[in-house]
Amino acid sequence: MYQLPEFTHNSTLSKIAILTSGGDSPGMNPAIRALVRTANKFDIEVVGVHRGYAGLIEEDFESLGNRSVSGLCHRGGTHLRSARCLSFHQSETRSKAAEILHKHQIDALVVIGGDGSLTGAHLLAQEHNIRVIGLPGTIDNDIFGTDDSIGFDTAVTTAVEAVDKISDTAASHDRHFLVEVMGRNSGALATQVALAAGAEMVIIPEHKKGIQEVSQMLAESRREGGESSGIIVVAEGGQTGWSYKLLEELQALGEDPRVCILGHLQRGGAPTAHDRILAATLGNCAIHYLLSGIDNVMVGINAGAVDTTPLVDVISARKSLDMANLTLIEELQR
Ligand code: F6P
Repeated sequence: MYQLPEFTHNSTLSKIAILTSGGDSPGMNPAIRALVRTANKFDIEVVGVHRGYAGLIEEDFESLGNRSVSGLCHRGGTHLRSARCLSFHQSETRSKAAEILHKHQIDALVVIGGDGSLTGAHLLAQEHNIRVIGLPGTIDNDIFGTDDSIGFDTAVTTAVEAVDKISDTAASHDRHFLVEVMGRNSGALATQVALAAGAEMVIIPEHKKGIQEVSQMLAESRREGGESSGIIVVAEGGQTGWSYKLLEELQALGEDPRVCILGHLQRGGAPTAHDRILAATLGNCAIHYLLSGIDNVMVGINAGAVDTTPLVDVISARKSLDMANLTLIEELQR
Protein backbone atom coordinates (compact mmCIF):
# COMPACT_ATOMS: atom_id res chain seq x y z
CA MET A 1 0.00 0.00 0.00
CA TYR A 2 1.17 3.51 -0.72
CA GLN A 3 1.08 6.77 1.18
CA LEU A 4 -1.74 8.81 -0.33
CA PRO A 5 -1.79 12.60 -0.73
CA GLU A 6 -4.53 14.77 0.70
CA PHE A 7 -6.71 16.33 -1.96
CA THR A 8 -8.72 19.53 -2.00
CA HIS A 9 -11.25 19.40 -4.79
CA ASN A 10 -11.57 22.81 -6.42
CA SER A 11 -12.20 21.97 -10.05
CA THR A 12 -15.26 20.61 -11.81
CA LEU A 13 -15.23 17.83 -14.35
CA SER A 14 -18.20 16.53 -16.32
CA LYS A 15 -16.61 14.21 -18.81
CA ILE A 16 -13.19 12.59 -19.24
CA ALA A 17 -11.64 10.31 -21.83
CA ILE A 18 -9.21 7.47 -21.12
CA LEU A 19 -6.80 5.83 -23.53
CA THR A 20 -4.04 3.25 -23.34
CA SER A 21 -1.19 3.73 -25.78
CA GLY A 22 2.11 2.16 -26.87
CA GLY A 23 3.13 -1.31 -25.73
CA ASP A 24 0.42 -2.74 -23.46
CA SER A 25 1.30 -3.72 -19.92
CA PRO A 26 -0.41 -5.99 -17.37
CA GLY A 27 -2.26 -3.73 -14.97
CA MET A 28 -3.68 -1.36 -17.56
CA ASN A 29 -7.09 -2.98 -17.00
CA PRO A 30 -7.24 -2.45 -13.23
CA ALA A 31 -6.08 1.13 -13.88
CA ILE A 32 -9.01 1.65 -16.29
CA ARG A 33 -11.36 0.15 -13.71
CA ALA A 34 -10.08 2.44 -10.95
CA LEU A 35 -10.40 5.52 -13.17
CA VAL A 36 -13.95 4.65 -14.19
CA ARG A 37 -15.14 3.67 -10.72
CA THR A 38 -13.62 6.79 -9.09
CA ALA A 39 -14.98 9.06 -11.83
CA ASN A 40 -18.39 7.51 -11.32
CA LYS A 41 -18.31 8.34 -7.61
CA PHE A 42 -18.01 12.01 -8.57
CA ASP A 43 -20.61 11.85 -11.38
CA ILE A 44 -18.03 12.23 -14.11
CA GLU A 45 -18.93 10.62 -17.42
CA VAL A 46 -16.18 8.44 -18.92
CA VAL A 47 -15.41 7.81 -22.56
CA GLY A 48 -13.03 4.95 -23.34
CA VAL A 49 -10.92 5.56 -26.44
CA HIS A 50 -9.99 2.44 -28.39
CA ARG A 51 -6.48 1.89 -29.80
CA GLY A 52 -4.76 4.88 -28.20
CA TYR A 53 -4.28 8.08 -30.19
CA ALA A 54 -5.21 6.24 -33.40
CA GLY A 55 -8.71 5.66 -32.02
CA LEU A 56 -8.91 9.23 -30.74
CA ILE A 57 -8.51 10.75 -34.18
CA GLU A 58 -10.99 8.23 -35.60
CA GLU A 59 -13.49 8.88 -32.77
CA ASP A 60 -13.46 5.19 -31.93
CA PHE A 61 -15.08 5.60 -28.53
CA GLU A 62 -16.95 3.51 -25.99
CA SER A 63 -18.95 4.77 -23.06
CA LEU A 64 -17.56 3.29 -19.83
CA GLY A 65 -19.68 2.78 -16.74
CA ASN A 66 -19.28 0.88 -13.50
CA ARG A 67 -20.60 -2.30 -15.04
CA SER A 68 -18.47 -2.19 -18.16
CA VAL A 69 -15.30 -2.42 -16.06
CA SER A 70 -16.46 -5.36 -13.91
CA GLY A 71 -14.11 -8.31 -14.03
CA LEU A 72 -11.20 -6.26 -15.38
CA CYS A 73 -8.97 -6.52 -12.30
CA HIS A 74 -7.34 -9.82 -13.15
CA ARG A 75 -7.25 -9.51 -16.93
CA GLY A 76 -3.96 -8.87 -18.72
CA GLY A 77 -3.70 -6.63 -21.78
CA THR A 78 -5.94 -3.62 -22.13
CA HIS A 79 -9.70 -3.63 -22.59
CA LEU A 80 -9.35 -0.42 -24.62
CA ARG A 81 -6.68 -1.98 -26.83
CA SER A 82 -3.52 -0.11 -27.71
CA ALA A 83 -1.53 1.14 -30.67
CA ARG A 84 1.55 3.10 -31.57
CA CYS A 85 0.21 6.06 -33.56
CA LEU A 86 3.07 7.46 -35.64
CA SER A 87 0.94 10.21 -37.14
CA PHE A 88 0.54 11.71 -33.66
CA HIS A 89 4.11 13.04 -34.10
CA GLN A 90 2.60 15.54 -36.55
CA SER A 91 1.03 18.71 -35.18
CA GLU A 92 -1.91 18.53 -37.64
CA THR A 93 -2.93 15.17 -36.14
CA ARG A 94 -2.76 16.59 -32.64
CA SER A 95 -4.91 19.57 -33.75
CA LYS A 96 -7.47 17.11 -35.08
CA ALA A 97 -7.41 15.23 -31.76
CA ALA A 98 -7.94 18.49 -29.85
CA GLU A 99 -10.90 19.39 -32.09
CA ILE A 100 -12.45 15.98 -31.43
CA LEU A 101 -11.99 16.32 -27.67
CA HIS A 102 -13.68 19.76 -27.80
CA LYS A 103 -16.46 18.45 -30.01
CA HIS A 104 -17.26 15.70 -27.49
CA GLN A 105 -17.00 18.21 -24.61
CA ILE A 106 -14.31 16.16 -22.93
CA ASP A 107 -12.80 18.12 -20.03
CA ALA A 108 -9.69 16.02 -19.54
CA LEU A 109 -7.80 13.15 -21.14
CA VAL A 110 -6.13 10.38 -19.11
CA VAL A 111 -3.27 8.63 -20.90
CA ILE A 112 -1.84 5.33 -19.66
CA GLY A 113 1.40 4.41 -21.39
CA GLY A 114 5.15 4.90 -21.71
CA ASP A 115 7.23 7.94 -22.52
CA GLY A 116 6.09 8.18 -26.17
CA SER A 117 2.45 8.17 -25.10
CA LEU A 118 3.10 10.73 -22.37
CA THR A 119 4.89 12.94 -24.89
CA GLY A 120 1.70 12.98 -27.00
CA ALA A 121 -0.30 13.96 -23.91
CA HIS A 122 2.09 16.77 -23.03
CA LEU A 123 1.98 18.17 -26.57
CA LEU A 124 -1.83 18.17 -26.51
CA ALA A 125 -1.71 20.18 -23.29
CA GLN A 126 0.98 22.57 -24.49
CA GLU A 127 -0.40 23.22 -27.98
CA HIS A 128 -4.14 23.08 -27.32
CA ASN A 129 -4.58 23.72 -23.64
CA ILE A 130 -6.20 20.32 -23.14
CA ARG A 131 -6.23 19.07 -19.54
CA VAL A 132 -4.23 15.83 -19.54
CA ILE A 133 -2.93 13.49 -16.86
CA GLY A 134 -0.63 10.50 -17.35
CA LEU A 135 -0.21 7.15 -15.65
CA PRO A 136 3.06 5.23 -16.20
CA GLY A 137 2.15 2.01 -18.00
CA THR A 138 5.09 0.03 -19.35
CA ILE A 139 6.88 -3.19 -18.51
CA ASP A 140 10.18 -1.36 -19.04
CA ASN A 141 9.95 0.78 -15.86
CA ASP A 142 12.05 3.39 -17.65
CA ILE A 143 9.91 6.46 -16.98
CA PHE A 144 11.42 9.39 -15.14
CA GLY A 145 9.36 10.58 -12.16
CA THR A 146 8.22 7.26 -10.75
CA ASP A 147 9.95 4.39 -9.01
CA ASP A 148 7.52 1.91 -10.47
CA SER A 149 5.38 1.53 -13.57
CA ILE A 150 2.21 -0.47 -14.12
CA GLY A 151 3.14 -3.87 -15.55
CA PHE A 152 6.77 -4.02 -14.48
CA ASP A 153 6.26 -6.37 -11.54
CA THR A 154 4.17 -8.77 -13.63
CA ALA A 155 6.76 -8.80 -16.41
CA VAL A 156 9.55 -9.52 -13.92
CA THR A 157 7.50 -12.36 -12.42
CA THR A 158 6.67 -13.84 -15.83
CA ALA A 159 10.27 -13.63 -17.01
CA VAL A 160 11.60 -15.20 -13.81
CA GLU A 161 9.20 -18.13 -14.18
CA ALA A 162 10.49 -18.64 -17.72
CA VAL A 163 14.14 -18.39 -16.67
CA ASP A 164 13.55 -20.94 -13.90
CA LYS A 165 12.36 -23.38 -16.55
CA ILE A 166 15.32 -22.65 -18.80
CA SER A 167 17.63 -23.19 -15.81
CA ASP A 168 16.33 -26.75 -15.48
CA THR A 169 17.29 -27.72 -19.00
CA ALA A 170 20.52 -25.70 -18.75
CA ALA A 171 21.55 -27.74 -15.70
CA SER A 172 20.66 -31.05 -17.37
CA HIS A 173 22.96 -30.27 -20.28
CA ASP A 174 25.71 -28.33 -18.47
CA ARG A 175 24.94 -25.40 -20.69
CA HIS A 176 24.81 -21.67 -20.46
CA PHE A 177 21.88 -19.73 -21.89
CA LEU A 178 21.63 -16.16 -23.08
CA VAL A 179 18.09 -15.20 -22.11
CA GLU A 180 16.97 -11.99 -23.80
CA VAL A 181 14.36 -9.88 -22.05
CA MET A 182 12.58 -6.70 -23.16
CA GLY A 183 13.48 -3.16 -22.14
CA ARG A 184 13.98 -0.82 -25.05
CA ASN A 185 16.56 1.54 -23.56
CA SER A 186 16.64 0.27 -20.06
CA GLY A 187 18.17 -2.57 -18.11
CA ALA A 188 15.64 -2.28 -15.26
CA LEU A 189 13.73 -5.41 -16.25
CA ALA A 190 16.88 -7.41 -17.03
CA THR A 191 18.51 -6.48 -13.73
CA GLN A 192 15.54 -7.52 -11.59
CA VAL A 193 15.07 -10.73 -13.56
CA ALA A 194 18.77 -11.59 -13.21
CA LEU A 195 18.70 -10.99 -9.48
CA ALA A 196 15.50 -12.94 -8.87
CA ALA A 197 16.49 -15.85 -11.10
CA GLY A 198 20.04 -16.14 -9.73
CA ALA A 199 21.66 -15.41 -13.09
CA GLU A 200 25.43 -15.48 -13.44
CA MET A 201 25.54 -12.25 -15.39
CA VAL A 202 23.39 -9.44 -16.75
CA ILE A 203 24.12 -7.42 -19.88
CA ILE A 204 22.25 -4.11 -20.11
CA PRO A 205 22.40 -0.99 -22.31
CA GLU A 206 23.55 1.19 -19.38
CA HIS A 207 26.57 -1.02 -18.75
CA LYS A 208 27.55 -3.10 -21.76
CA LYS A 209 29.97 -5.92 -21.14
CA GLY A 210 32.81 -6.75 -23.52
CA ILE A 211 32.67 -10.17 -25.15
CA GLN A 212 35.96 -11.08 -23.42
CA GLU A 213 34.38 -10.53 -20.03
CA VAL A 214 31.49 -12.85 -20.92
CA SER A 215 33.73 -15.60 -22.29
CA GLN A 216 36.02 -15.29 -19.27
CA MET A 217 33.06 -15.88 -16.96
CA LEU A 218 32.08 -18.97 -18.98
CA ALA A 219 35.65 -20.30 -18.93
CA GLU A 220 35.93 -19.73 -15.17
CA SER A 221 32.72 -21.56 -14.51
CA ARG A 222 34.10 -24.57 -16.41
CA ARG A 223 37.48 -24.46 -14.66
CA GLU A 224 35.84 -24.96 -11.28
CA GLY A 225 34.76 -28.43 -12.44
CA GLY A 226 31.41 -30.03 -11.69
CA GLU A 227 28.31 -28.47 -13.12
CA SER A 228 28.84 -25.51 -15.41
CA SER A 229 25.46 -24.30 -16.41
CA GLY A 230 24.10 -20.83 -15.93
CA ILE A 231 22.01 -17.97 -17.16
CA ILE A 232 23.14 -14.69 -18.67
CA VAL A 233 20.27 -12.24 -18.86
CA VAL A 234 20.56 -9.88 -21.83
CA ALA A 235 18.44 -6.74 -22.21
CA GLU A 236 17.29 -6.34 -25.80
CA GLY A 237 18.30 -2.67 -25.66
CA GLY A 238 16.02 -1.68 -28.51
CA GLN A 239 17.30 -4.42 -30.80
CA THR A 240 15.28 -7.62 -30.48
CA GLY A 241 17.48 -10.60 -31.28
CA TRP A 242 20.64 -8.80 -30.23
CA SER A 243 21.69 -11.87 -28.23
CA TYR A 244 22.17 -13.79 -31.49
CA LYS A 245 24.94 -11.35 -32.36
CA LEU A 246 26.46 -12.00 -28.97
CA LEU A 247 26.12 -15.72 -29.62
CA GLU A 248 28.07 -15.42 -32.87
CA GLU A 249 30.88 -13.60 -31.10
CA LEU A 250 30.97 -16.23 -28.36
CA GLN A 251 30.95 -19.06 -30.89
CA ALA A 252 33.96 -17.47 -32.58
CA LEU A 253 35.72 -17.83 -29.21
CA GLY A 254 34.78 -21.50 -28.97
CA GLU A 255 31.78 -21.15 -26.65
CA ASP A 256 28.41 -22.70 -27.43
CA PRO A 257 25.63 -21.24 -25.28
CA ARG A 258 22.00 -21.39 -26.35
CA VAL A 259 19.77 -18.37 -26.89
CA CYS A 260 16.20 -17.89 -25.71
CA ILE A 261 14.32 -14.68 -26.51
CA LEU A 262 11.38 -14.29 -24.15
CA GLY A 263 9.70 -11.67 -26.35
CA HIS A 264 6.09 -10.61 -26.02
CA LEU A 265 5.11 -13.30 -23.53
CA GLN A 266 6.60 -10.88 -20.99
CA ARG A 267 3.81 -8.40 -21.75
CA GLY A 268 0.91 -10.81 -21.27
CA GLY A 269 -0.78 -12.55 -18.39
CA ALA A 270 -2.82 -11.57 -15.37
CA PRO A 271 -1.32 -8.66 -13.45
CA THR A 272 0.31 -9.51 -10.13
CA ALA A 273 -1.30 -8.26 -6.91
CA HIS A 274 1.44 -5.63 -6.77
CA ASP A 275 0.55 -4.25 -10.21
CA ARG A 276 -3.18 -4.34 -9.44
CA ILE A 277 -2.67 -2.32 -6.26
CA LEU A 278 -0.36 0.13 -8.07
CA ALA A 279 -2.83 0.54 -10.93
CA ALA A 280 -5.82 0.96 -8.61
CA THR A 281 -3.99 3.57 -6.54
CA LEU A 282 -2.67 5.61 -9.47
CA GLY A 283 -6.01 5.44 -11.31
CA ASN A 284 -7.94 6.61 -8.27
CA CYS A 285 -5.48 9.41 -7.49
CA ALA A 286 -5.47 10.64 -11.12
CA ILE A 287 -9.16 11.54 -10.80
CA HIS A 288 -8.57 13.25 -7.46
CA TYR A 289 -5.68 15.26 -8.92
CA LEU A 290 -7.87 16.41 -11.81
CA LEU A 291 -10.63 17.38 -9.37
CA SER A 292 -7.98 19.29 -7.41
CA GLY A 293 -7.10 21.34 -10.48
CA ILE A 294 -3.82 19.53 -11.18
CA ASP A 295 -3.00 18.41 -14.72
CA ASN A 296 -0.23 18.13 -17.31
CA VAL A 297 1.52 15.81 -14.85
CA MET A 298 2.15 12.10 -14.49
CA VAL A 299 0.98 10.39 -11.31
CA GLY A 300 3.69 8.12 -9.97
CA ILE A 301 5.24 6.56 -6.89
CA ASN A 302 8.26 8.01 -5.16
CA ALA A 303 9.66 6.52 -1.97
CA GLY A 304 6.39 4.72 -1.29
CA ALA A 305 4.19 7.79 -1.72
CA VAL A 306 1.93 8.85 -4.58
CA ASP A 307 2.97 12.13 -6.15
CA THR A 308 3.11 13.94 -9.47
CA THR A 309 5.84 15.00 -11.88
CA PRO A 310 5.24 17.59 -14.62
CA LEU A 311 4.96 15.81 -17.97
CA VAL A 312 7.60 18.12 -19.41
CA ASP A 313 10.12 16.66 -16.93
CA VAL A 314 8.88 13.11 -17.43
CA ILE A 315 9.58 13.27 -21.15
CA SER A 316 12.82 15.24 -21.07
CA ALA A 317 14.73 13.61 -18.23
CA ARG A 318 16.18 10.11 -18.29
CA LYS A 319 15.55 7.72 -15.45
CA SER A 320 18.79 6.32 -14.13
CA LEU A 321 19.29 2.75 -13.08
CA ASP A 322 20.62 1.99 -9.62
CA MET A 323 24.00 0.52 -10.54
CA ALA A 324 24.42 -0.92 -7.04
CA ASN A 325 22.17 -3.75 -8.17
CA LEU A 326 24.78 -4.78 -10.74
CA THR A 327 27.36 -5.12 -7.99
CA LEU A 328 24.83 -7.15 -6.01
CA ILE A 329 24.39 -9.57 -8.93
CA GLU A 330 28.18 -9.83 -9.36
CA GLU A 331 28.72 -10.53 -5.68
CA LEU A 332 26.19 -13.35 -5.80
CA GLN A 333 27.61 -15.03 -8.89
CA ARG A 334 29.55 -18.28 -8.53
O1 F6P B 1 7.93 -0.38 -24.53
C1 F6P B 1 7.60 -1.65 -24.11
C2 F6P B 1 8.17 -2.68 -25.03
O2 F6P B 1 7.64 -3.89 -24.59
C3 F6P B 1 9.69 -2.72 -25.11
O3 F6P B 1 10.28 -3.41 -24.05
C4 F6P B 1 9.90 -3.39 -26.43
O4 F6P B 1 11.13 -2.99 -26.99
C5 F6P B 1 8.77 -2.87 -27.27
O5 F6P B 1 7.75 -2.50 -26.36
C6 F6P B 1 8.22 -3.86 -28.25
O6 F6P B 1 7.24 -3.22 -29.00
P1 F6P B 1 6.27 -3.92 -30.03
O7 F6P B 1 5.16 -4.55 -29.27
O8 F6P B 1 5.80 -2.81 -30.88
O9 F6P B 1 7.06 -4.97 -30.75
